[in-house]
Amino acid sequence: MEAVKVAIIYYSSTGTVHALARAAAEGAEKAGASVRLRKVAELAPPEAINAKPAWAQHIQDTADVAEASLDDLAWADAVLFGTPTRFGNPSSQLRAFIDTTGPLWFQGKLADKIYSAFTASNTAHGGQESTILALGNTFYHWGGIIVPPGYTDPIQFQTGNPYGASHVAGDGPPNDVALEAARYQARRVVDTAAALKAGRAA
Ligand SMILES: Cc1cc2nc3c(=O)[nH]c(=O)nc-3n(C[C@H](O)[C@H](O)[C@H](O)COP(=O)(O)O)c2cc1C
Repeated sequence: MEAVKVAIIYYSSTGTVHALARAAAEGAEKAGASVRLRKVAELAPPEAINAKPAWAQHIQDTADVAEASLDDLAWADAVLFGTPTRFGNPSSQLRAFIDTTGPLWFQGKLADKIYSAFTASNTAHGGQESTILALGNTFYHWGGIIVPPGYTDPIQFQTGNPYGASHVAGDGPPNDVALEAARYQARRVVDTAAALKAGRAA
């Protein structure tokens, strides 16, 4: 059977979500998937970006990451979305990309795929769950199949977030537990997508 195709589509200002996205890509590849790691377009004005050195630096550091396109969504069997929490919601940059998906949605091309999401916030109770659940609203509209990590692996009892991999950026860059949770989430997505793909082909 053809390998499961996974798109990992993320936004990150200062690298936290990017690190989780890379870990998810590793996990998906290790599980046998073809992977596209894609950032969404930056929309903030240069004045805002340049006022925060870590933001400007991250843009430079990830210049080689391709930008997400609608073709990445159409191509994928499964999509993992990553975004920082912004006042308890997904970032406007990721939402802006999602808001370009109307034509695909209208043709039914976003339905029946697997979706999952991961995030970061500055504080432990700063909205990780609400951000992931907010993305879930869109997955429902698309007719997606939502695959959360739940507590289906020992790593989940260490991270404690059944909604999706997440990290408290105020504690520093993602640690081994957060990265392993992202790898695990991607593996679970790939395994589920592979079972679905095999079942549909049968
Ligand atoms: C406009 C704005 C709103 C934010 N809102 C929240 C929030 O509601 N809760 C929180 O814990 N952190 C909040 N943060 C902090 C970011 O979530 C945090 O910096 C981000 O997760 C780091 O991810 P990144 O390094 O991938 O950009 C906010 C940051 C900005 C700029």
